Amino acid sequence: MTTRTPLMAGNWKMNLDWKQGLALVEDLGDALKGLDTSAVEAVVLPPAVDLRTVQTAVDAGKLPIAYGAQDISEHESGAYTGEISGAMLTALGATYVAVGHSERRQYHGETEQVTNAKVKAAFAAGLTPILCVGEALDERKAGKQVEFSLAQVEGGLEGLDAEQVARTVIAYEPVWAIGTGEVATPDDAQEVCAAIREWVRTVHGDTAADAVRVLYGGSVKSSNVAELMQRPDVDGALVGGASLKADEFAKIVRFQD
Ligand code: G3P
Repeated sequence: MTTRTPLMAGNWKMNLDWKQGLALVEDLGDALKGLDTSAVEAVVLPPAVDLRTVQTAVDAGKLPIAYGAQDISEHESGAYTGEISGAMLTALGATYVAVGHSERRQYHGETEQVTNAKVKAAFAAGLTPILCVGEALDERKAGKQVEFSLAQVEGGLEGLDAEQVARTVIAYEPVWAIGTGEVATPDDAQEVCAAIREWVRTVHGDTAADAVRVLYGGSVKSSNVAELMQRPDVDGALVGGASLKADEFAKIVRFQD
């Protein structure tokens, strides 16, 4: 069991228009009524076009939910058609942003350099990056999951100081477990999450290593979250499909079945 404040984040991906997003965040607010946010943080990452609606609902209902974006431009402002800057996200009250999700790396050709620039853009805007890393099936079969994930951690955090690393959230999401129903075993998750923390300890020291939150992502559901959360280096979950239903995600936030 983690000694850090657990963080349960729902990545809605490209699902739910603003009306559907509004319904979900309101239902989630009801399901999480009374949540002690000093004991666990609940975060949603809606599509960018839903953020204004989510902001209004969270503010109006004083819902115990933080929110953020699924991506951020590496640039501050200017002629970057289609991009959304960190400052635009913070103006909407966003506090988190996912960076380097495997779907961004795979379908949008985001390199280690771009991912690193986006992590820095998040910090420059006052957002907390959720840096996503994780191996594909080939690397897992070759037993290279730790090596591969650490290389992505190293690339993503390049140039950051220990204080920034301490505030970063790192999500270990093995690609073979995303949306497949194939969940890594708690021991698989612990192995890589622990290795990530040890890397932080070696490079940035004890304070950063003890503070940095490392999440597991990949087919997390209310039925498997409790066991994952028993592992000492798993500080929370990054949840895709199961975050689209209020009751299911609320159970995950409380890590109960
Ligand atoms: O970012 C969350 C993610 O990629 C996992 O998705 O649907 O397997 O929970 P899912």
